[in-house]
Amino acid sequence: MKTPTVLARVIGVALALSAAVVSRKVNKHKPWIETSYRGVITENTDVVLLDPPLVALDKDAPVPYAGEICAFGVHGSDAPFEAVVLNRTSGEGQLRARSPIDCERQREYTFTIQAHDCGSGPGGIGAKKSHKAVVHVQVGDVNEFSPMFSSAVYSGSVQEGRVCDSILQVDATDRDCSPQYSQICNYQIITEKAPFAIDRNGNIRNTESLSFDTQPHYEISVTAFDCGQKRATRSATVHIHVKPICKPGWQGWSKRVDYEPGMGSKPLFPKMHLETCEGTVSSVRTTVELQTGHIGKGCDRETYSEKSLQKLCGASSGSTDLLPAPSAAFNWTMSLLTDGGRDSELIFRFDGRQAAKIPDWVAPQNLTDQFTIATWMKHGPSPGLRGEKETLLCNSDKTEMNRHHYSLYVHNCRLVFLLRRDYTQSSSFRPAEFHWKLEQVRVKDEQKEERELKECFFFLVCVTCHDKR
Ligand SMILES: *[C@@H]1O[C@H](CO)[C@@H](O)[C@H](O)[C@H]1NC(C)=O
Ligand SMILES: *[C@@H]1O[C@H](CO)[C@@H](O)[C@H](O)[C@H]1NC(C)=O
Ligand SMILES: *[C@@H]1O[C@H](CO)[C@@H](O)[C@H](O)[C@H]1NC(C)=O
Repeated sequence: MKTPTVLARVIGVALALSAAVVSRKVNKHKPWIETSYRGVITENTDVVLLDPPLVALDKDAPVPYAGEICAFGVHGSDAPFEAVVLNRTSGEGQLRARSPIDCERQREYTFTIQAHDCGSGPGGIGAKKSHKAVVHVQVGDVNEFSPMFSSAVYSGSVQEGRVCDSILQVDATDRDCSPQYSQICNYQIITEKAPFAIDRNGNIRNTESLSFDTQPHYEISVTAFDCGQKRATRSATVHIHVKPICKPGWQGWSKRVDYEPGMGSKPLFPKMHLETCEGTVSSVRTTVELQTGHIGKGCDRETYSEKSLQKLCGASSGSTDLLPAPSAAFNWTMSLLTDGGRDSELIFRFDGRQAAKIPDWVAPQNLTDQFTIATWMKHGPSPGLRGEKETLLCNSDKTEMNRHHYSLYVHNCRLVFLLRRDYTQSSSFRPAEFHWKLEQVRVKDEQKEERELKECFFFLVCVTCHDKR
């Protein structure tokens, strides 16, 4: 059994030797491959699928070595590929990645490949190379990345009462390399029952008209999907503000103002501003009407002394008594009729025919920016005077113009205070009028006794002017 084996080996060696001798002469042909190949490799795998398949042919076949393929060379400075021979006889080869292929880094590669035959014998002496074929490899994408919004928070606004096609647009991107996995195919609003919709381009619109008063602000969450259905890991927050329709007028004030006795002066509308809705304004005329929720009933204020009334109403100190009890120095009340009262607080009666002319040195000619006028009066029925002004106090020009600098009067159920400032320049009169409604005057019942018809008023006119020139 030993002999045939030895013999076979001897023959094998002899054959090999003779083949080497022959092939040195017969490696006539270069291997042959196609002129170009197209390849595809999925990122993070290592085998390139080539079309056509990599097969090198050698016309020297079936001569050993000369007709066999020993190697493939890959040429290209940055090509991370190598080609291996799978079967020397058939010339089949395989193109493989030498290192992980990342589509996001490089999407395609172009390089050349060349087949080497095995030469004329062992050791590859006299090996021949094929021409260089161009290989074009595209990297197939894996949906590794999820969409990401360009911003975590978006905000927009919509006019109330309007349906807007695009209040704002959100935008997500995806780092995958292929259109399928990198494009955003769909956006979705996660928040339930929000009156908004989003389209495939990320435009957010409202599905119904919104009301500022009902809900001035909405907060919704949106997400995005790439075309491989991968969802954004983080949703985006969208703030939508409902813009109220601009209504021109005074804003920032309240109808009700609480005032307690002893509070001193209190600004009525400290935060009021005039909304002009960007229109132009040529002049502004304002009427402020004040009504008290409760006032002293009947003549109950009669029991207070004048001093305590002033204190109660927060009147400025340093007041001047315009109707003092008559004396040598203060004689302008001398001729007036009195109607009770105590020594220093006489009550005077006026019937529309007489008046007290207060000397200039007593009455202030010009009112300063802040002043108080206080008067207390019982108002009886005044037949025949209805519709006429009943002046309580007035300061007017000496000239015949009869222009009132300031004046306090009762007119048709109203107490009116008129104030002209800056009266030296006739061109820039700026009169201000203050009206107080006197409910009591209206309620006149002719059937009742005069005693009951008498109404009491205590007026305290406190004016603070802020000159904004
Ligand atoms: C190599 O290819 C030859 C010719 O096609 C075939 O006969 C042989 O079986 C193949 N060898 C292997 C290991 O597949
Ligand atoms: C008041 O006194 C002044 C002088 O002090 C006098 O001229 C004037 O007539 C008096 N008026 C009355 C009403 O008594
Ligand atoms: C009143 O004001 C005018 C102009 O501002 C001034 O000329 C006049 O002297 C003032 N009168 C008094 C009594 O202060």
